[in-house]
Amino acid sequence: MVDGGLSIDPWSSTQSTDYSRIIEQFGLSNLGNLTLPNPSHLHRRGIVFAHRDLELVLQAQKTGDKFGVLTGLMPSGRMHLGHSMVIEQVKWFQNLGGDVTIAVADLESQATRGVSLSKGREIALQEYVANYAALGLNPDLTNVYFQSTRADVQRLGFQLGKRTNLSEFESIYGFKGETNLAHVQAPMVQVGDILHPQTEDYGGLRPIVVPVGVDQDPHLRLTRGIASKSNWFNVKDNNGPGVLIGLSVQDDNAELFGQQPNGRIDKAKVASVFSQVVTHLVELGFSDINSNPKQGTIIVPSATRKDINNIRIKLLQLERKLGGMGLLAPSSTYHHFAVGLTGEKMSSSKPKTTIFLDDDIATVSKKIKKAYSGGQSTIEEHRRLGGNPDIDVAYQYLMYFFEQDDGYLAELNSDYRSGKILAGEMKQICIDKATDWMSNHQELRSQTEHMVSDFLADDSK
Ligand code: TRP
Repeated sequence: MVDGGLSIDPWSSTQSTDYSRIIEQFGLSNLGNLTLPNPSHLHRRGIVFAHRDLELVLQAQKTGDKFGVLTGLMPSGRMHLGHSMVIEQVKWFQNLGGDVTIAVADLESQATRGVSLSKGREIALQEYVANYAALGLNPDLTNVYFQSTRADVQRLGFQLGKRTNLSEFESIYGFKGETNLAHVQAPMVQVGDILHPQTEDYGGLRPIVVPVGVDQDPHLRLTRGIASKSNWFNVKDNNGPGVLIGLSVQDDNAELFGQQPNGRIDKAKVASVFSQVVTHLVELGFSDINSNPKQGTIIVPSATRKDINNIRIKLLQLERKLGGMGLLAPSSTYHHFAVGLTGEKMSSSKPKTTIFLDDDIATVSKKIKKAYSGGQSTIEEHRRLGGNPDIDVAYQYLMYFFEQDDGYLAELNSDYRSGKILAGEMKQICIDKATDWMSNHQELRSQTEHMVSDFLADDSK
């Protein structure tokens, strides 16, 4: 797929791991530049490495304002360790006070993997949701729903189709003339998934963060673009002092914004909209406001880049009062993928590449023993040259999943590099920790199995 050289295809079974290039090419921000409250091991170890607009969410968290987190699961295949990473992050946001919405992408799974809706429901509940409680999600604060039964999501996806076109789908996803239309509709439903929690019936306007692997970024770029294009007020840096606000005239606001069918401008209407914008800016505490209805702009000279988010949210509120959708572009975070056991991509369709959450201990141990190693080919060489933890699956799985203690992990890392720890020893350490983790998880799972229906939203029971 195209997009300026680097390709990201959300449905592909291969994936790019050139993360710094991904950050640069798609305009992600480095997560390392933010201070996170109570970071999890995924944050501390740089596994969650990038974001878009996460400041919005952290700000809300700090001031005690509402924020939400949304993710989706594709009901096909079994749940494996890789899937648990997103849930870890959802749990982190939940513990910080975020409300949680989880989309079961049963329509997408049917469209792109041929999984029937009833089979999709069964997989979602037995494979995925059953593991969520064991992983520590709170069922009382989590809403799981199905794409196929939430009409609001489908309607929103359909309506927002107005804000994109086939050329954009071609450039984002590489779709061509022969692309099946169900495949075209799936991303639009996902746009509905991501944006609907901020509609009035689902909690109202608030920042929503979507933690994903980089392979899902195309969906976020699409969604963010669509949300911005639908906005009635554009808010941006004024390339000089202040923040610049402009009106975006569209079908659904043209009359209100004074555009008469004969092409003339109804000045009184324009003046009214401008004065409402000014009132909202004053409510935010700004007093110096240059409102210029003739030019169609408002400049707030004393506002800085940092005020842009607040101004944007305030004007989305105004847009909603005036009858618009008032959609805030979603925030997102991105995590690295854990390498597959064999060194290739982790995938539920290749059981040897991953550990399923219900694998028994003997299987887990066998898989880790066979895993791709960063050790040297003989003990002697290993002692002399040392191993490479960066490509050693056993070490990597300790880092991603099984070992909580950063200090101990750093010790393993340097002892492996120096040759003090052998590849087989690293595997044994991983097996021991994996055994603890898996037996604990499976025990929790049997204790929490009865909670599955508590996770379901009322429209999805
Ligand atoms: N497309 C996602 C996947 O392949 C599933 C999904 C559907 C999703 N809707 C979502 C993920 C919204 C994040 C946000 O796994």
